[in-house]
Amino acid sequence: MSDPAATLTQLLRPVFDDLVGSEAVAEGESPDPTVRPSDRADVQINGALPLAKKLGVNPRELAQRIVDSGALAEIADLEIAGPGFINVTFSASFLADQLAPVAADDDLGIGVDPDPLQVVVDYSAPNVAKEMHVGHLRSTAIGDALVRTLEARGHTVKRENHVGDWGTPFGMLIEHLLDMGETEAAAALSLGDLNSFYKEARVKFDGSEEFQERSRQRVVQLQGGDPETLRLWEILVDLSAAYFNTVYQKMGVLLTDDDLVGESFYQPLMPGVVERLSAADLMVESDGADVVFPPGFVNREGDPLPLIIQKGTGGFNYATSDLACIIDRTERIGADLILYVVDAGQSQHFQMVFAVAHMAGWLHDDVEAVHIPFGIVLGTDRKRLKSRSGEPVRLVALLDEAVARADAAIAEKNPDLDEANRAAVARSIGIGAVKYSDLSTDRIKDYVFDFDRMLAFEGNTGPYLQYAHARICSIFRREGVDRASVRSVAIDLAEPQERALARHILAFPSAVDAMLETYSPHKLCTYVYELATAFSAFYEHCRIKGSIEPTYSSRLALADLTARVLERSLGLLGIDAPEQM
Ligand code: ARG
Repeated sequence: MSDPAATLTQLLRPVFDDLVGSEAVAEGESPDPTVRPSDRADVQINGALPLAKKLGVNPRELAQRIVDSGALAEIADLEIAGPGFINVTFSASFLADQLAPVAADDDLGIGVDPDPLQVVVDYSAPNVAKEMHVGHLRSTAIGDALVRTLEARGHTVKRENHVGDWGTPFGMLIEHLLDMGETEAAAALSLGDLNSFYKEARVKFDGSEEFQERSRQRVVQLQGGDPETLRLWEILVDLSAAYFNTVYQKMGVLLTDDDLVGESFYQPLMPGVVERLSAADLMVESDGADVVFPPGFVNREGDPLPLIIQKGTGGFNYATSDLACIIDRTERIGADLILYVVDAGQSQHFQMVFAVAHMAGWLHDDVEAVHIPFGIVLGTDRKRLKSRSGEPVRLVALLDEAVARADAAIAEKNPDLDEANRAAVARSIGIGAVKYSDLSTDRIKDYVFDFDRMLAFEGNTGPYLQYAHARICSIFRREGVDRASVRSVAIDLAEPQERALARHILAFPSAVDAMLETYSPHKLCTYVYELATAFSAFYEHCRIKGSIEPTYSSRLALADLTARVLERSLGLLGIDAPEQM
């Protein structure tokens, strides 16, 4: 256990149990010491107050008895404050003892969750034959960070890219493909120009009744499983998937073809959803459609809101495919937890789908589904980010521009970097900047996409954190010391900045847990930023170069450990940590 607060709580438990008496403990009434962060000390023990109330004694006297127990004498300075709080300042030697196992651990104290889960993460989910835009950036970046962090905690994660690869638009898309000629169309689509292809099809559809009719028939053939239609449909899906892959590679996320489980996958499972819902007597007819009314959902007029399962025409809905998806994920994959990283605009859809899945018994106490909503990406004008022509901005264009800008910044900052290295570093910085600016604000809020701000080398930005890491690497290069050689050196925390830095390093596992508790990458971002800031303060006040032993090696060891935590936490966010920049 590297977190000092956790060690403190463990040491306090028997003291509190003693105070409340063995009978109460036997009845399962162990009081909680309640160790909380504090501004005035390292942490504060707040548990004496409720315990004193329960025992009917003076809280300050009870706090004194806790101090007098001597349980914490070895590890901290204690001071009773206010009505009976105990302020705790850890001793430098205790903190140094806590650091040693972290330095020896490849996982830097993260540890495996005692209750590992089978998790499905549904994220990215662009639509076939449509361009990826900034909304997909958010889902892809947040989903990727969650996947990496869940895996680091020992959970088994199944990534699912729920691409939109089915539905009525495919009629017109296939007809357009035929009009263009397969080879021509394939060439156009493999260039990644998905917007024009889709728009051309749309224009024809809106302008020609004959084309509309053809498209409609094509949809019927697609749904009927006509082999030739399916072959054409597959061309569209494969070319789009290849394009999505180039974007994923650019972004440096984990998604591959193996993770594609699009809407089409759930089509054969839809009749089963209908059967099971009606067998459970949940389905009613409303306005000629088969629907379920989950309790608690009403429209503006206060009328109950239906979740439409099957339309009068026999067709299924988006909701039906998400219900099929829940059955598949729970019953085939055996998921304990299903996360949906999808924009906040779909919140009601998911709440209703989950409610119906609960009514049907597909979700229950042992299987949880969580919608992880996120806000909109705004332009510097604070309106939804658009290109000059008023269209959604292509994600690739944004990524490429970020890399080009990073390249120019590096050329100026570090002209000695050779061409090949520079390209790789520029990519790490540009992509890292885009991801970090997305991940570092509370996901539920909208955020402003601003190249100048995200690429700045100062402030809470990706480049600043990458630079903190690269700077530590360069200290070792200049000193001519191998980083691994200082990993077993005893660390001495004499200066307040050394102590503060050590406290931050030890808080890493708690930061990871805090992020996963609410699925909020920004909490880990804030942690990394504070760690980099603590390192700056340390580096300014505590000389490394020219200091004497054992201080020299101790400080190098602290610097190395900081760099490892920086690299690891950036890694959990899906961001590279180059060694020079
Ligand atoms: N393709 C959908 C869209 O672009 C997102 C799918 C999200 N996942 C889901 N299971 N519904 O809006």
